[in-house]
Amino acid sequence: MRDKIKVLIDQKKLEQRIQEMADAISAEYEGKTVHMIGILKGSVFFMCELAKRLSVPVTMDFMAVSSYGSEKKSSGEVKLLKDLDESIEGKEVILAEDILDSGRTLSYLCELLKTRKPASFKVITLLDKPSGRVVPMEPDMYGFEVPDLFLVGYGLDFDQKYRNLPYIGAVE
Ligand code: IMP
Ligand code: MG
Repeated sequence: MRDKIKVLIDQKKLEQRIQEMADAISAEYEGKTVHMIGILKGSVFFMCELAKRLSVPVTMDFMAVSSYGSEKKSSGEVKLLKDLDESIEGKEVILAEDILDSGRTLSYLCELLKTRKPASFKVITLLDKPSGRVVPMEPDMYGFEVPDLFLVGYGLDFDQKYRNLPYIGAVE
């Protein structure tokens, strides 16, 4: 059966906002190389769209953590499934995420990565759902603030489906 999905943020709005974010990052990191870390799998779509629009050199690496599985609610436990391939010591690290909800994933990853001596460390997320916050966590930059709805598309999944939708939608 197909779920009903209502468009919340269309492709044009997403791309406009990602361009603005890229322009701000390019200006801030002028003369430096940005080392982007994506959290698999949800951040991949956002990270690619952002990276394509940066005017500074970019290197990339990926991590994977346990996710919601087939439930719409987090188990509350974060588990590292895949660590980085390369060291981040001395690098200008930007951690890219699809959505900041309870804050558990990002606060866990921030604590872990900051111990590895990057030259700088920032967290950016396409979506911020502040109503879901359980642990204190604020992104350095976010694309859109979103309401307390279960969202899919642009990397976000429901039971691994809908990541490929070119817009952000709410499952009804
Ligand atoms: P947090 O640890 O609760 O902040 O959750 C972050 C992760 O939960 C994200 O990387 C997503 O994979 C997932 N997530 C949170 N909210 C949603 C949603 O509305 N739709 C799909 N996945 C979500
Ligand atoms: Mg995720």
